[in-house]
Amino acid sequence: MVNLNASTLQLPLDSNPEAEFHYVWLRDNCNCNECCHSDTKERILVSADIPLDIAASSASLDEQKLKVRWNQSNHVSVYDLSWLSQHDYSQGSFTDDPATSGFMPRVWGREFESSIPTFQYRELYQSDAALRAWCESIRDYGLTIIRGAPSNEGEIERFAEHVGCVRETIYDRLHNVRATPGEYNAYNVASTTLELKPHTDMPNYNNPPGVQMFHFLQNDSVGGESTAVDGAMVVRQLQERDPDAFKILSSTPVRFRMFSDRGDIINSNPLLTLDVNGNLKVFRFSNQLAQPANIAPEQMDAFYRAYRKLGTLVEAPENKVQFRLNTGDIMATNNLRVMHGRNAYDADSGGRHLQLSYMDYDDVLSRLRMLMKK
Ligand code: OGA
Ligand code: ZN
Ligand code: ZN
Repeated sequence: MVNLNASTLQLPLDSNPEAEFHYVWLRDNCNCNECCHSDTKERILVSADIPLDIAASSASLDEQKLKVRWNQSNHVSVYDLSWLSQHDYSQGSFTDDPATSGFMPRVWGREFESSIPTFQYRELYQSDAALRAWCESIRDYGLTIIRGAPSNEGEIERFAEHVGCVRETIYDRLHNVRATPGEYNAYNVASTTLELKPHTDMPNYNNPPGVQMFHFLQNDSVGGESTAVDGAMVVRQLQERDPDAFKILSSTPVRFRMFSDRGDIINSNPLLTLDVNGNLKVFRFSNQLAQPANIAPEQMDAFYRAYRKLGTLVEAPENKVQFRLNTGDIMATNNLRVMHGRNAYDADSGGRHLQLSYMDYDDVLSRLRMLMKK
């Protein structure tokens, strides 16, 4: 039943009659108490110490378990067949993370305006199912609205702590957005009444805050409607329509800077940071924070051509949703993917005051995993 090859072992699993595992991989994943700490389940065995000529001297199947005796130190390892099925990489990479396995972004454009996932603030405290659905919406769509939050100062910071933890930045744990001249954190255009074109926040960080939450304490002015654009949609369009531009923007570093009384953060990263599979990992776009391009002269024209192409897609009406948020509403975005903005507003027509807090995207996925375990 178990075939011993030169460097691999083959066995039939319910999920794959010809599953095949490398000896070195099996040895590395021995879960006996010598190799894994019995309390923490962390690896104690040092992977780099495994001899590369490790091999099974014998192997047998018994009671849904695979037992392997190794040709080194007479060590014995036992694996549940269900565990092997779950981690069978011989037919492609396995997905053993319940929060992200099979994940595909649900990209959207203007039509999404009428179906943005909307939640009731109180339910996110009272119902695990509601909170789980909210986490999933942040993951899948990257844009949600929460209604009915109390208009208390600091409420959004407490909400972040309810879900995960606050991601502190040089704008503090919580920051105010209102057009008050001299406001302590009036470092940027958000503290004016001007339009804010769709952007992601804080692309100047190597790890920008992953989830952004805007709590409207007051919105009585004319104008100031919120806008959002799905970076994943824009990137898909760019990739299809102008692969050269996609290549340039995923490989050319762009410098961003943001400062406050507390700090001054500068970093260079491509606008489109891809993962090892070429999928979008971090989308950065902020007209106001981009610094002078610092690239080779022979690349400058091509860079601006690509940048203009991306900017045109970001501004395209078919990609943009617009909606009005009122006192007690919260907009939450996946800031590694979705851009947000607002229309200009008239400060004389009524007050407008938002408080913002951030979380890391990891904290939302973490909360989702904890809810899935319940
Ligand atoms: C911001 C921002 C949006 C708004 O402060 O970063 O995008 O509605 N504000 O004022
Ligand atoms: Zn072991
Ligand atoms: Zn912003």
